[in-house]
Amino acid sequence: MSNQTGSIKPFIPDEPIIRVDGLIKNYGQVTALTGISFNVRRGELFGFLGPNGAGKTTTINILTGLARADSGIIEIDGQDCAHNPKSAQHLIGIVPDESNLYPELSGFDNLCFCASLYGMKKEDRINQARQLLDDFGLSEAGERKFAGYSKGMKRKLTIAAGLIHKPSILFLDEPTTGIDVASARHIRQLIQNLHGNGTTIFLTTHYIEEAERLCDRIAFIVGGRIVLVDSVAHLLQSLQEKQVLLMSVPGLNQKIVQSFAQAFSNFQVEMVDRNQLRIEANSSISLAPLVNFLAAHNLEVLEARSLHPSLEDIFVKVTGLQVDMMKKEREKNGGGGQ
Ligand SMILES: Nc1ncnc2c1ncn2[C@@H]1O[C@H](COP(=O)(O)OP(=O)(O)O)[C@@H](O)[C@H]1O
Ligand SMILES: [Mg+2]
Repeated sequence: MSNQTGSIKPFIPDEPIIRVDGLIKNYGQVTALTGISFNVRRGELFGFLGPNGAGKTTTINILTGLARADSGIIEIDGQDCAHNPKSAQHLIGIVPDESNLYPELSGFDNLCFCASLYGMKKEDRINQARQLLDDFGLSEAGERKFAGYSKGMKRKLTIAAGLIHKPSILFLDEPTTGIDVASARHIRQLIQNLHGNGTTIFLTTHYIEEAERLCDRIAFIVGGRIVLVDSVAHLLQSLQEKQVLLMSVPGLNQKIVQSFAQAFSNFQVEMVDRNQLRIEANSSISLAPLVNFLAAHNLEVLEARSLHPSLEDIFVKVTGLQVDMMKKEREKNGGGGQ
């Protein structure tokens, strides 16, 4: 009786299931993590968004006990994982960026082997392996050797393996990088289903649209530093209130742009080049006063285009990086073999 009462945890809304504070990791002279802090809430789909080398894999490896931090606090479901890295092992599933499965074993045997590592009973191993092959559309391929799978199938089986013991927290390291579009779409759908069933998901990605589409909250990580953590809903809402206008005005110079910015001080004004002005506002922009002001300075507005700001704009602003950097990354990974 007393045992039972003792095991009931009070329900605390927004109680973090993962708590990280001041995590530092150096590899020799390279600082991979500079002292990052964040929380992941129970049932949340939390995204780590950042370019190559940002520290995403290092963070996952440390949280899952595959690497040790130099210092910092890690708590997973109340367990002190900084001092006892394996203490939350039964709760978590890990899907590394590169497969850790056996090429010579079949898909089914790989899943059964993973299940045995968690001490699952034979019957449970077989049932769960069959169920996962079915969920991931791999039933027919189940008897074939893993070595012969396509990249997309390999990634799916690696995710299935991470789910074999029905973990309540799943860590996914760039789950859709380097695979075909259809498999990536299928994997996103499976991630959404898992999220819908209450699994807490920690996902790393360098695809801005993927983070926007899947995640409840996003941490932007660059150079081992978290530069922003916010909910996607809040980020998108803040964008809706913004208007961005691109005006084509040949013959601009700094002096005119300065007086323009003074005259319209509630707008953010930027001279893109000698022919273009970019104007950003938190309310709608009426064009006539702007055109009149420029006409009074003998400048003609040839074209004015309203832009829809996206999460990419926020990314560029908070990270100081160009979005191209992430896109090039995608092409490189998408095309490269492994
Ligand atoms: N085993 C390692 N030895 C030395 N440096 C490493 C090692 N692993 C990662 N790094 C460095 O740490 C930084 C973060 O790497 P990583 O966590 O893999 O980034 P991401 O997963 O975001 O691409 C990079 O500068 C990388 O070169
Ligand atoms: Mg990585």
